[in-house]
Amino acid sequence: MASSSRGQFSSRIGFIMAAAGSAVGLGNVWGFPTQTASNGGAAFLVMYLLMMVLLAFPMLVAELTIGRYGQSNPIASLKKIWVRNQALAIVFGSIAMLAASLILSFYAILAGWLIGFGAAPVMELVGLKGFAEWLETYGVARNLVLTVLFMGLTVYVVQKGVANGIEKWSTRLMPLLFVLFAVLIGYIFTQEGAIEGLEMYLIPDWSHVNAGLVVNAMGQAFFSLSLGVGAMMVYGSYLKKDINIVRTAGQVAVIDTGVALSAGLLILPAMFVAKHNGVQIFNEVGELISSGNLVFTVLPSLFDTMGPIGEVIGLAFFALMVIAALTSSIAMLEVPVACLHEELNIRREKAAKILGLAILILSVIIVVNFSSLFDLVATISTMYMQPLLGVVWAIVIGWIWHRNKQLEEIKQGNPDIEQGWFWKIWPWYVKFVCPIAVLTVFLYPQL
Ligand code: PHE
Repeated sequence: MASSSRGQFSSRIGFIMAAAGSAVGLGNVWGFPTQTASNGGAAFLVMYLLMMVLLAFPMLVAELTIGRYGQSNPIASLKKIWVRNQALAIVFGSIAMLAASLILSFYAILAGWLIGFGAAPVMELVGLKGFAEWLETYGVARNLVLTVLFMGLTVYVVQKGVANGIEKWSTRLMPLLFVLFAVLIGYIFTQEGAIEGLEMYLIPDWSHVNAGLVVNAMGQAFFSLSLGVGAMMVYGSYLKKDINIVRTAGQVAVIDTGVALSAGLLILPAMFVAKHNGVQIFNEVGELISSGNLVFTVLPSLFDTMGPIGEVIGLAFFALMVIAALTSSIAMLEVPVACLHEELNIRREKAAKILGLAILILSVIIVVNFSSLFDLVATISTMYMQPLLGVVWAIVIGWIWHRNKQLEEIKQGNPDIEQGWFWKIWPWYVKFVCPIAVLTVFLYPQL
């Protein structure tokens, strides 16, 4: 076993940055604002916050705890708990690995576009107008080149391992992300029209609440906290035993939610600034146009209306998105890499390269069959696999793992936990409420 040479996060803050880096991604800076804008603003926001607190946070604690107990990749960690049913541990660990890979395969395409949109203004500044246009125009060749580039970056970081790759880059990139956000939000509120966006963001229109909205809010919360696919399990396995899991999970969830809320605070006002500047954002019946493409259509046209400063803002904005995407994609790739590295004794560098290539092939297949595959892969992996795997982890914690063993694990780094309210609620909550709630939200629209 390679376990004696396992990596570890070197500090608590390093872990928080890495786990928050995994959580904060396109889900926050792109998915959340887009969903909020197209689902009635504040109504979606409220539902999302509820889902975060009631379902996603307890599940985050669950995944981190399984991982730290196992001190290994998701397959081995599950095996350690599912002693009497090793085959199931292998099956579900492998499904998690597959889900993480599927998510990465479409995520890398999106992130590639963001690189293109970030690089385009720079290319324009140095006089390469034609190239800038190519970068911003949909095309198979462009999609392929940029996806390869993004996947290359991801493999580069993961190859370097836990402390020197994932932790180092997350600790460098996350603060940069926070600063860029603050600057952009500060700027957008100096612009005419921003307040109208703020109103949509903060004043709920309850007529939008329906079963579909609840499902979307749950999916969004699970995606945003990187749940289900074993990413948090594997990060938990690199966590030192003297760290308080509950508190740390709380901090990660707060940072993640904070970034999503900030992204809303940037993008909804930006939409209305764009509208004020003459960019069309709603169609005749008042629906948001091209909601999925919001970030790629509305915002660049907003930056265009701003003159030369718009180029700088555009670059900063897309740089921010790429950073957020990269700290998430490394977490996705880490799941299968840890499995291959530890289960099959393959060197980390080699595992990262092999898996990076395999997932890239998947991305290429999606790029060339974009209209039929992109949404399909995204829906299967995020709307189905993530919540359903979450249910499996809740069952593992609630029904398979002996409660005293859990307590022993969670007590390390948190010796007084037994006396607090958390331990009174959480075990039965994960045992009954989480699986039933996730399944209900999930099945309800199908009934
Ligand atoms: N949480 C990331 C985001 O919001 C996505 C992610 C999903 C990362 C699963 C890792 C694993 O973009």
